[in-house]
Amino acid sequence: MLMQFSLNDYEYHVSDSWALFNLIQVCSMKGVIIPRFCYYSKLSIAGNCRMCLIEEEESPKLVASCAMPLADNMLIYTNSLRVRKSREGVLEFLLANHPLDCPICDQGGECDLQDQSMIFGGDRGRFYDFKRSVENKNCGPLIKTIMNRCIHCTRCVRFATEVAGISVLGLTGRGSSMQIGFYIQKLFSSEISGNVIDLCPVGASTSKPYAFTARPWELRSVFTIDPLDSLCSSIRIDVRGTSIARILPRTNSVLNLDWISDKIRFFYDGLYRQRIASPFVKVSGFFVPLSWRNTFGVLKKILASFRDQLVFTKKSFFFSSVFFGPSESLEVCFSVRNFLQFFSSNQLSQSDDACFSFWPSSRFANIEFADLLYFENLNIRYQSPVLNILFRNSYLKSNTLVVYSGSTPFNNYFYKHAGNEAYARSQMVRGKSWVSSLFQLFEFPLMLSASSLSASKFLNSNLHQFSIWEGRNAYASSVSVLHNQFLNVAKSSTILGENMFSLQYYLNCQPVEFKAPLALSVYHGHHGDRNLELTADVLLPSTTFVETNALFLNICGVVQMANRVFHLDKFRHARSSWKIFRAMLTVMGGCPVWSSFSSLVRSLWYEFPLYVVDYQYSGLWPKISLLSNLPLNHGVFSPYKGDALSKNSKVLSLCHLFLRSNLNVMF
Ligand code: SF4
Ligand code: SF4
Ligand code: FES
Repeated sequence: MLMQFSLNDYEYHVSDSWALFNLIQVCSMKGVIIPRFCYYSKLSIAGNCRMCLIEEEESPKLVASCAMPLADNMLIYTNSLRVRKSREGVLEFLLANHPLDCPICDQGGECDLQDQSMIFGGDRGRFYDFKRSVENKNCGPLIKTIMNRCIHCTRCVRFATEVAGISVLGLTGRGSSMQIGFYIQKLFSSEISGNVIDLCPVGASTSKPYAFTARPWELRSVFTIDPLDSLCSSIRIDVRGTSIARILPRTNSVLNLDWISDKIRFFYDGLYRQRIASPFVKVSGFFVPLSWRNTFGVLKKILASFRDQLVFTKKSFFFSSVFFGPSESLEVCFSVRNFLQFFSSNQLSQSDDACFSFWPSSRFANIEFADLLYFENLNIRYQSPVLNILFRNSYLKSNTLVVYSGSTPFNNYFYKHAGNEAYARSQMVRGKSWVSSLFQLFEFPLMLSASSLSASKFLNSNLHQFSIWEGRNAYASSVSVLHNQFLNVAKSSTILGENMFSLQYYLNCQPVEFKAPLALSVYHGHHGDRNLELTADVLLPSTTFVETNALFLNICGVVQMANRVFHLDKFRHARSSWKIFRAMLTVMGGCPVWSSFSSLVRSLWYEFPLYVVDYQYSGLWPKISLLSNLPLNHGVFSPYKGDALSKNSKVLSLCHLFLRSNLNVMF
């Protein structure tokens, strides 16, 4: 209930430091909530709903508190008779054309108009004409519109223009013909379009997948994070029974502000599809379900026979390689490291190379001060949409120079393209191209690269005074994937050891089609597809990030916990990845240094600063090395794909189809 506090007869002597705030913000800070529809703190001020009118002593008329800046010695009344009458008037006009939909409206229970009507609405109307009707708009597979409920607050229009960077929505018509719509008929194609659902104060824009599934008071909320991109935004998962009803952002002024990507908002139907329900071992070309104990027994036997062969032939050596998927947690990478240290002949060696270039040296406050943004071989808008919002803000506020290298990205702000030819790139890495000279000219450059190794070389050749470079960041996407320098190369037959006894371990990562004859291919993950029949020998089912507690390291070096939301009984054989590695180590005769999640985290904390971090992005990152002659290709053509969860989501697949058919009208 709003307006339970009153500022009546309250005099504010305003100090200069408050002068930048508007009255509505100051009142919020003082604990007085002024009702509003069009005002939203992260958007520009429209001042068109008139719900926030208050009385100011010097002003003959009521003033819009969202548009009026604070001045010294202001005397304001927020709950006087005049103010209350004006709110009643505004609501009467809004409700004159508003349908009586509350019982069937998805916004019911969390609708601003409903709340305000309870306080300022009349119990009868004075308009007896027909209510106007407005045609619903087709916004694509995510947003459901019922435009009769629209109150023309223009939040969605301002979001599309100012945050998403696509000027497709607007107000057309006058008087009772006024309506929100597309200037020309097109879909709302943006990778962050779902935020409009949260912004809309009424039920005009609601979520299509959530339609008629739950009421807000039936939901249990779990606070967690989004590990599907590198920012690890703060989110809230609302659960009804044992199914996810919806995913919403949590305000985090340091990371994601109030926004999240469509991928995390709508991926959740992919949780239930194509899951690996139990461990499988391939026998005569067919997968046979086994218990965990028997599966580990088979694995132990195969690996023991590999060792015997090694002793017998004295030729080959045992080679193990692990391929990480895009969203692995810190403790899983740590478990892998321990597992491989135990039985592999590969040497884990520390190197200073990537560590320097990877380790974050700045917080996100620095983004705003960056005067040069250099993206190497990335499509940052699709790979990390919310991070791209921050970069776009920096570009708009500070007129930052943005430079991309690699294949042309799809971006919503102006950039210079430094080419994608191998020669141009090698010149850049050597410090001999025009991009190199920019790094000398600008004071606070910031770089993101798809490869920490190439970034490190670039930095060494282009920057001689690291101390001035506050915004140094040389990495991209999910930093939680710690790769422990085993592989940072293409999945080629040479690397996988064509003539060696080898273990190819795929952690939520699609196995390569080529499988060496002497290799054992283990797929460890939560989702699978038919390709696994051809490429994998053993399948180990693991849990997703909503079914277990996990730690993730984000792009600015902050470690956050993803909290367990529930455990699905249907997939009860799936285990947390770190538990699988612990059990495997024990079966193989090893001695894991951790026995529980907390002891694992303690060990991780002890060793973590020593890590050399590098990562392999299966299917998402270009499979070429720094010395390749091929042109660079970021390989990311959709914001809705890239990991096992989003790949199996029907909703996101539909978005992907719409994007492809609608690509020419995206900007
Ligand atoms: Fe009721 Fe709000 Fe829906 Fe309008 S938008 S029908 S007031 S719940
Ligand atoms: Fe406001 Fe919602 Fe209408 Fe957009 S659709 S103008 S957000 S009420
Ligand atoms: Fe101030 Fe709408 S909130 S005019």
